[in-house]
Amino acid sequence: AKQPKLIVEADAEALALAAAERVMARIAANPGRIAICLTGGSSPKKLYQLLGSEAWRGGIPWDRVHWFIGDERFVPESDPLNNMAVARATFLDRHAPAGHIHPIPTTAENPDTAAEDYARELQAFYAGDQLDPARPLFDLVLMGTGPDGHTASLFPGYPEIEETRRWVVGVPKANVAPFVPRVSLTLPVLASCREMLFEIAGPDKRPILTRLCNGENLPALRARSNGETVWLADRAALPEDIRGPR
Ligand code: 6PG
Repeated sequence: AKQPKLIVEADAEALALAAAERVMARIAANPGRIAICLTGGSSPKKLYQLLGSEAWRGGIPWDRVHWFIGDERFVPESDPLNNMAVARATFLDRHAPAGHIHPIPTTAENPDTAAEDYARELQAFYAGDQLDPARPLFDLVLMGTGPDGHTASLFPGYPEIEETRRWVVGVPKANVAPFVPRVSLTLPVLASCREMLFEIAGPDKRPILTRLCNGENLPALRARSNGETVWLADRAALPEDIRGPR
């Protein structure tokens, strides 16, 4: 897979705007059914707010876009930790047709059965269980990275990062807070997209972005689109040596 391309924005606001523009560009590039894989954590919140705002929502063909989630905390939808619930409350529920929102079912018996259920849902949507490089599952996959270099709920050193067969896996124990079981799409499934877009903002991300830029083989570096991979970072997150004078 191609090397990620680093794009630097002045601050978190500019970064969210740039991310929204990339979402719109991917939507515009596909005249048919569009699939976007969202992410959790705090990184995408500004982007979600923008997409639901008056200035942007009119440009989204809501009847053609399907919304998935790359990983979920195995907590009820009513729990503020639930990733899809955050996306729904921030923008989806007001604009997307209910049948176009595809949450990971945390009502399942356990994370493994939730993973199996979601794999089936993705495969039904894709109309196949073998990913064809010529036909990506997603138009766009949004990602973030945590302080340990995890992405989605694929944590460094965990066996799930090596998974090549299953589309979705249960992760019994998280490596960082919140310490709840997770359900995560696997690397080959996340890779099946035209674009994978990381949002990496703020001074707290600088240590991990430095390690990733140094080529440490962490999940966030191993997660690559079969198409284009973009790291959108703001200046505060940049490693000292590529940051230049302030
Ligand atoms: C999750 C996310 C996760 C996230 C990173 C960054 O469920 O936690 O999907 O992969 O993107 O942990 O999180 P922040 O944006 O909160 O720093």
